[in-house]
Amino acid sequence: MRKVLFLLTVSMALSAGVRSADNELSVDLMQNIEDTNKSLSSNIALANKQGASEDAKELTRMFAEVEIFFEHKGEAKNAVDLAKQSKDLSAEIVTLVGAGKFEPATTAATTLSRTCRTCHTFYKKE
Ligand code: HEC
Repeated sequence: MRKVLFLLTVSMALSAGVRSADNELSVDLMQNIEDTNKSLSSNIALANKQGASEDAKELTRMFAEVEIFFEHKGEAKNAVDLAKQSKDLSAEIVTLVGAGKFEPATTAATTLSRTCRTCHTFYKKE
């Protein structure tokens, strides 16, 4: 049930992202990424294989959306690369936690969090 709700929220966030005429990245999508990333960190810390793996899968999917968003937006090559890097790191975490390798997964999660900040520095206004 939680999963269904979550998927609903994500798809709503995604359609909101597509709808916005001013080419803004959906804040709801980023908020979901934030929540899932936090959940991932604690699941890795708890060595929760299933939880961490589900979180990392969701992140992989959401970053694929972020990548597509910036591809369509254009003139944001750096953001496309950072989104792709985040997607690849999330996918790597899926594999690592699946194999019970929580230490390298922690390192990858730290790199992932750094990638968030790098993209925000360049592409998040405020
Ligand atoms: C490829 C670029 C990119 C990456 C990578 C990225 N973000 Fe973002 N993020 C943005 C942009 C752009 C905004 C501003 C969206 C807006 O306000 O329209 C944003 C906004 C946010 C917000 C603010 C949402 C709000 O309520 O205003 C949060 C929280 C956030 N990101 C979390 C994360 C986390 C956590 C990660 C990494 C796991 C991440 N982001 C990775 C581009 C990125």
